[in-house]
Amino acid sequence: MAGARGTWNSSFGFIMAAVGSAVGLGNLVRFPRELAENGGAAFLFVYLILLLLVGLPAILGEMSIGKMTQMSPVNAFRKLGGEHGKKWAVIGVAGMLAAMFVLFFYTVMTGWTLRFFLGGITGAWFDDPSGYYGDIAYGPATIFWHLLVSIITVYIVSRGISGGIEKVTVIIIPALFAILIGIVLYAAFQPGAIDGYKELFDPDFSELTPNNIAAATGQVFFSLSLGQGAMLTYASYMDKKQSVSKDGTTIALADTGVALMAGMMVFPVLAFTGLLASNDPAVQEALGGSFGTAFIALPNAFVAMGDVMGRIVGTVFFLGLFFAALSSAISLMEVPTSVLIDRFELPRWKSAVLIGLITYSFGVVSSINETWFTLYDEIAINVFIVLGVAFTTFFAGWVAKGVGKELDSGLRSRVGVYIVWLMRTVTPVAILAVFFFGGLFGTGADGGIEFWANDAGWNRLWRELKLGFGFE
Ligand code: ALA
Repeated sequence: MAGARGTWNSSFGFIMAAVGSAVGLGNLVRFPRELAENGGAAFLFVYLILLLLVGLPAILGEMSIGKMTQMSPVNAFRKLGGEHGKKWAVIGVAGMLAAMFVLFFYTVMTGWTLRFFLGGITGAWFDDPSGYYGDIAYGPATIFWHLLVSIITVYIVSRGISGGIEKVTVIIIPALFAILIGIVLYAAFQPGAIDGYKELFDPDFSELTPNNIAAATGQVFFSLSLGQGAMLTYASYMDKKQSVSKDGTTIALADTGVALMAGMMVFPVLAFTGLLASNDPAVQEALGGSFGTAFIALPNAFVAMGDVMGRIVGTVFFLGLFFAALSSAISLMEVPTSVLIDRFELPRWKSAVLIGLITYSFGVVSSINETWFTLYDEIAINVFIVLGVAFTTFFAGWVAKGVGKELDSGLRSRVGVYIVWLMRTVTPVAILAVFFFGGLFGTGADGGIEFWANDAGWNRLWRELKLGFGFE
């Protein structure tokens, strides 16, 4: 019964929680980095096309499955899968595992944001921002902050849907939007900011390789919290009167809006503080590195803004980053927690603590070892999530009955039939094509497309795996 599982108190509460799930480190840290690395506006162009053809049908499919069944992922696939329900339930299990894999590194990173926020208040990173990141990113102390974030997340999830998750997200998500809009506007009025927009929006289509298109696909899904069961689970607590089509579109638009805002914040800030044009090899390396833009280059830019302004903007920025990360971590923790509640009838608090213990334990490895941090990230996003979304969308289009009707409910026009058509054809085919092409091919040393290219796709993943297990 839905009531016993919990429901959202209001439709605003649901939207805030779901936007909180979508908007996270993926938008604020990963998106600007991918944009900078993969051809600026050319990447954005591909991202928006993928969002429309693939991301939107996928989020609507996942939400429909959740709302129609009012069940957690494993039970939902089982129910809608009919006589083969048991087999289809595997997709739910994979989604739950994806959420957990993401948590293995996500709570560690959320810990970084918390430390940078507190360090902004005390001024801890003002003398040497690059050194500070080097000190806090991996190591024994990181395990403590990862534990703290895990405890906060478990506590909120254990308080339930309206009593925990909704109560927190209706406060922190509007606060996050206020912070982002404030910094974007502040940056826009600084002299020199224009160079940042140029960098952001200047298209370089030559950088659009198969791997970059695959990266954009992974980014769309990660950012919308798809393939991890989060949207499905949150939608399972929706009120029957709410519209999946309207709410799903709102969530996707808000998520993309925040990703764009992140770009429009990061690049102008780096430009007007002179870091974008800096010849300093350390700064250039930070801008190219995985998390260097957010955790090295930006803190350096805040310091360059001067003592007072830099400290205020820097502290507020990392508070926003913490809110964004926490609300996403909560939604990911809710997925396996809800599965334990539904399938094994465990009390909510016991389920949350158990899942928290598991994700905490695996996260200890990524708290101290960068190779494993990267492996969790790449396996979760480029394998589990991408395949999960392809199968979920296929399932919503071909197997589950009533998705079209669900998508039409609450709307005046009939859109369901078109979206289901996309779910049956273009969306899964495009995802699988990108998955195999991006995995098998890469850019060779001469710049051309090459099969099993050295530093790309699955070849790179395979080498990283060997490194992770100490074989290289
Ligand atoms: N959707 C979340 C993010 O973008 C996981 O960070």
